[in-house]
This record gives sequence, C-alpha cells and structure tokens, in this order.
Amino acid sequence: MTQKSTDILVDWTDEHTAKFQKDILTVRHRLSETGLFSDEALAQMLDKHPKEKLDVCTMHTDHPLYPNQFRTGDFRDVDGATLIKAAKAGAIWVNARQAMNVHPEYNAVLKRMYGSISEVTGRPSFNARGGILISSPVAKVPFHCDKTETILWHVRGKKRIYIYPLTEEFLADESYQNIIANDLGDDLPYKAEMDKSARYFDLEPDQMISWQLNAPHRVDNQSYCVSVTTEYSTKASAFKNSVMYTDALLRKKFSVQAKWSDASNGQRLIKSAAGRVLRKAGAIKVDDVKDMVTFKIDETAKSYVVDVEPFVRNF
Ligand SMILES: [Fe+2]
Repeated sequence: MTQKSTDILVDWTDEHTAKFQKDILTVRHRLSETGLFSDEALAQMLDKHPKEKLDVCTMHTDHPLYPNQFRTGDFRDVDGATLIKAAKAGAIWVNARQAMNVHPEYNAVLKRMYGSISEVTGRPSFNARGGILISSPVAKVPFHCDKTETILWHVRGKKRIYIYPLTEEFLADESYQNIIANDLGDDLPYKAEMDKSARYFDLEPDQMISWQLNAPHRVDNQSYCVSVTTEYSTKASAFKNSVMYTDALLRKKFSVQAKWSDASNGQRLIKSAAGRVLRKAGAIKVDDVKDMVTFKIDETAKSYVVDVEPFVRNF
C-alpha cells in the first residue's frame, strides 16, 4: 500500500483516497505544528476576530430560566485570553466563524490543508471555509447534518464523534428539505437509542475525520478542545441541495411528498435547475428568528458567566 505524507497530512493511503467523500476516514495531521492553535496564538486571533463572526455560548442542564438551552453571550467586555480561560474552566465555548479565511496566517494554513487533500486525492482544488471551535465539556454539538462536505480537523483535547447511517430513519427527506428551506438550524430529531446504530470515534489530538456528504453526526467533548471545521460545496452537494429546495417547496405549497431516492436523473436535473432559481428568488419564506443574548462573560465572576436582561444580539 502506498503511503503519502504532505506538510499537513501524515500517512495518507490509497484506502483513504477510496473512502474520501464516500465513507468515514480518519488520518493524522500536523496542524498543531503551525503554532497557530496554542492558547496564546488563539487569544491573539480572538482579539483580532470580527465580533459579528464570533459566537460565545454556554449551556447548563439545571439553569432555572434556560435549562438545556444553547445560550448566546456578550463577550465585548473581555479579551481573547479571558475567553480562553473561561473555555478552559468549562464555562463556555467559542466559535470563531471563518477564522481560517479571515486571518491571513490561518488562511495560509487552510490553503495548505486543502492543497494537501488535492495532492493526495488527485481532486482539483477546493474553495473551503473554515472556523475554529474552542470548547470544553460544557459544549455538545447536537445531532445534525451539514449541507456541504465537512471535515473536522481536531487539534487539541479529546472528543467523541458519533456518525449515523445516511438512511431515511436517521435523516428523513422531509427533515433535510426543512434544513435546506430554512437555512437556519441544522439540528435533527434525536433519541438516545439511535446511538446503537452509530459508529463512534474518540478523536486524538491532530487527527482529522471526514464522512459522507450529509451523514448525520453529533459530538461530545471530553476535555478542553481546539478543533477546526472546514466545509466546501461540490457540484454534487449543490445539485442535491437545489433538488431538495424544489422538493421542500412542492411539499409546503402543494403537499407533494417527493423523495430524493425515488427521483430519476431526469427529474433531478429539472428540479435542480428550478431549485437554483427558486432559492435565489427566496421562494420559501423564512421566519426571522432573533438571536437573544442572555449572559455576559465577566472575568470577576467565579463561573465567568453572568446572566443579563435578554436583548437581541446587536454585535
Ligand atoms: Fe457538523
């Protein structure tokens, strides 16, 4: 078996190439060697990161007002180093959206990551976007699916990812149509017994994992973690999503229950062309859901988290 390494990927084999975008694969990488994912480097990145692309969240099972709810926090009073401390203390998690695109030094690494993937798979280059997630055991990524090809590049800490079969039982066409039509949340209905059918992976530092387009998954953190998530559209994902948009519209307006698996190629081509136009035109009206801020980060508070009078996020 041939093994290839690049400046980012370690020991990529033909088996990895065969599984890429078709099945689950894990491989070692060298992101921590870049020095950009140390606490100091991340704190500096957070200080420069655009506020509108930064989410600071918390969740507590036993909060009297917000039990088991994802909550959005106000981080404007504190610096990046404090956010890192609060994440390490298990109080919050931080999602620096598009950090791998916004900051030139991180973008150079993103280009190397996807350059490496092109090099080992022989596929043309990818137009990827990437965010950095700084999290702790308080953070759970609920059962959901992504609309585009996603890769999780785990860098520091331990987390377990569960990946579920891509079947109607775990991802109903109707659920996926809702995700496409709403463009809001990607969460799916979840029951604990579904885990029996999942494959799970305990990710080690500097290990990446990828899976088949749309395969539902969820993540449990076991420690303070730093990860990069990247996503990119392919012709196949854009095609499927425009078909699903048309199907969503048919169901909402005409109660037609269209199924992806039942459609012929010809039907899909027509629906895809229609879906692209309809989606651009905003044919499905989306409810405006307000992002409410319910706490702020306060470094003088022992828990770092202080409730505030809820207000609509304006930063
Ligand atoms: Fe995901």
